[in-house]
Parts: sequence; C-alpha cells; structure tokens
Amino acid sequence: MAAEKIAIASDHGGTNLKQAIIDELSSKGLDVLDLGCDGSASVDYPDYGYKLAEAIKSGAVARGVVVCGSGIGISIAVNRFPEIRCALVHDRLGASLSREHNNANVIAFGERTTGVATALDALDAFLNTEFEGGRHERRVEKLSNPPL
Ligand code: RB5
Repeated sequence: MAAEKIAIASDHGGTNLKQAIIDELSSKGLDVLDLGCDGSASVDYPDYGYKLAEAIKSGAVARGVVVCGSGIGISIAVNRFPEIRCALVHDRLGASLSREHNNANVIAFGERTTGVATALDALDAFLNTEFEGGRHERRVEKLSNPPL
C-alpha cells in the first residue's frame, strides 16, 4: 500500500518548525506534500493556508499541518472552508482531543509558542488517535453545515 501523503504549509514565521515536522513525517515513512513557503522572506499566511485547504478540498490529501508564528492566523485561514476542521494545539492532550471529539483533519502549530519536541509529540497524537464518533458525530456534522 502506498504511504499516506500529508500536506504541510507555513508562512515565514513557521519555516523552522515546518522543516522539523517534514523531517519527522519523512522518518516515519509518510509522504509529505510541502506547499511552502520556502526561505525567510515575508509572505502572507492566508495564501499558504489556502494552498493547504485546496489540497484537502481536491482530495490530494486527507490530512494536513499548518504553521505560522502563533498558529492563529493560518488556522483561521484554513478554517474558513467547511471541509476543514483545523485545531490549533499546544500539547499532546489538545491534539488527542481534536481527533477524538472534533475529527480534526488539520493541525496547527505556532513556532513562537510551541517547542519542537512538544509539537512533534502532539503531531504523533494527531496522527495516531481515532475519532470517537458517537455523540460527537452530530456535532462534527454541524460544523460542515453552518446555518448561513
Ligand atoms: C507573521 O509576522 C505573523 O503575524 C504570523 O506568522 C502569525 O503569527 C499570524 O497569526
């Protein structure tokens, strides 16, 4: 079976943590779709969040990781799409709960707020925790269907 492909994107404030995550995913045998940005030149986090959202919407990948300085801007960007359930987390517990209760398909980190070891630990929980379903099913369904 082919390795799962996971997309990752960051702005200039998240490139160091992005690279650490790429190295971790690659070492685990996962196929990584790196959507940028590259280098330290200033870019706009919505542009990279939207690239990642498009990769999920198109079906190119099922799961993704986004990083910016705080994790806040880029998580807001990807959460503007009903197909995305992005959780900005700061530890393993948040990552586990985002899977168990929210069926998160994208995880967000802030390079300025979360150290590499903590982020990789949370990433491990995100990748290896199943959605609980049950009472959470209805709630998650409502997230994709806001009463506009
Ligand atoms: C970029 O300077 C910074 O604003 C961005 O990385 C992020 O923290 C925004 O939420």
